[in-house]
Amino acid sequence: MRVPFVDMGRLHAATREEMLAAFARVLDSGTFVQGPETEAFEREFAAACGVRHAIAVSNGTAALHLALVAAGIGAGDEVITVANTFIATAEAISMAGATPVFADIDYATMLMDPADVERKVTARTRAILPVHLYGRVCDMEALGHIARRYRLRLIEDACQAHGALDFGRRAGTFGDAGCFSFYPTKNLGTVGEGGMLVTDDDEIAARAASLRNHGQAERHVHTTPGFNYRMPELQAAALRVMLPHLAEWNERRIAVAAEYGPALRGLPLRLPDPGPRGSHVYHLYVVRTRERDALRRQLAEAGIGVAVHYPTPIHLQPAYAHLGYRKGSLPVTEHVAAEILSLPMHPFLTPAEVRAVAAAVERAVPPRGWALAAAGGV
Ligand SMILES: Cc1ncc(COP(=O)(O)O)c(C=O)c1O
Repeated sequence: MRVPFVDMGRLHAATREEMLAAFARVLDSGTFVQGPETEAFEREFAAACGVRHAIAVSNGTAALHLALVAAGIGAGDEVITVANTFIATAEAISMAGATPVFADIDYATMLMDPADVERKVTARTRAILPVHLYGRVCDMEALGHIARRYRLRLIEDACQAHGALDFGRRAGTFGDAGCFSFYPTKNLGTVGEGGMLVTDDDEIAARAASLRNHGQAERHVHTTPGFNYRMPELQAAALRVMLPHLAEWNERRIAVAAEYGPALRGLPLRLPDPGPRGSHVYHLYVVRTRERDALRRQLAEAGIGVAVHYPTPIHLQPAYAHLGYRKGSLPVTEHVAAEILSLPMHPFLTPAEVRAVAAAVERAVPPRGWALAAAGGV
């Protein structure tokens, strides 16, 4: 059985008629950029997150850039983030004129290690930018303490964690601002590009709302040079169709992860750490083995869709060579990058498909077996 990594067809079959009606509504309205659909989606998304303000933008990278600029981060500032993330996280810091400083990650969760964050704080540090990677919320209690102790801004990259809930709060609502991507494959995705900044801070909200639309305070009055980060109405209308399904789709992802557990147990893989219930919404289901490359090749040959998120940590990317990090600078991040493999994961994955993935993994393991991914560290 072939098992695709994601299946957009099955996702959109569930909402197709509603989606076409929403597109017709936009077409008939004659308003195509940042209009009533965008405003309605902002209200609905803010309510779903439990925050005062949601500012819709053109993509997740724009949301991160806007959040940093609106929070006052700029040239000469350092922002502590992680290297085990999509490059957009670091790019947003660079776009703001600041310097990314990479903290290592925790081996069990593969997320920002608060102890290393504290070691990386300098006189120039102005913000911490944790990433709720793979759909799992970071240790926001510890990171919140550090942010308060050193008076740092806390801006969350929640681009992979729509709806994840920890400490009774939604991902994206712990700090000064939270940023989301609506890239089509995300837990909440659109049929193009989109993003959102959420905040309870009135000043950040006002600045971000103006900056995303060329720094306009009112029509034809530009108080600061800004950007064109507006959301198209078709995207907002599509997202309004999708948003009411998010909770159910996240539950299905959690259920798929719960099926993977017993199906893969006994095989020489390290499975994702689920955390408290609801704190991991499985944007990606990432297993680990030292034999990652062999497993990846064999699963691909067996028709199982697999991927690596991400094979080269950002501190070792050519784009950031000027920062001077070397191999070995972030030992846990680098160790993890060599082990991770993302298995098929989406809300419509069936139990039969999960069993087919597990059977393909079992066939890929040589008779002598592999060493388990180093338990507990590097
Ligand atoms: C962790 C993370 N940060 C930032 C982004 C950037 O979002 P976008 O592609 O919408 O610009 C993404 C998504 O691609 C992401 O996964």
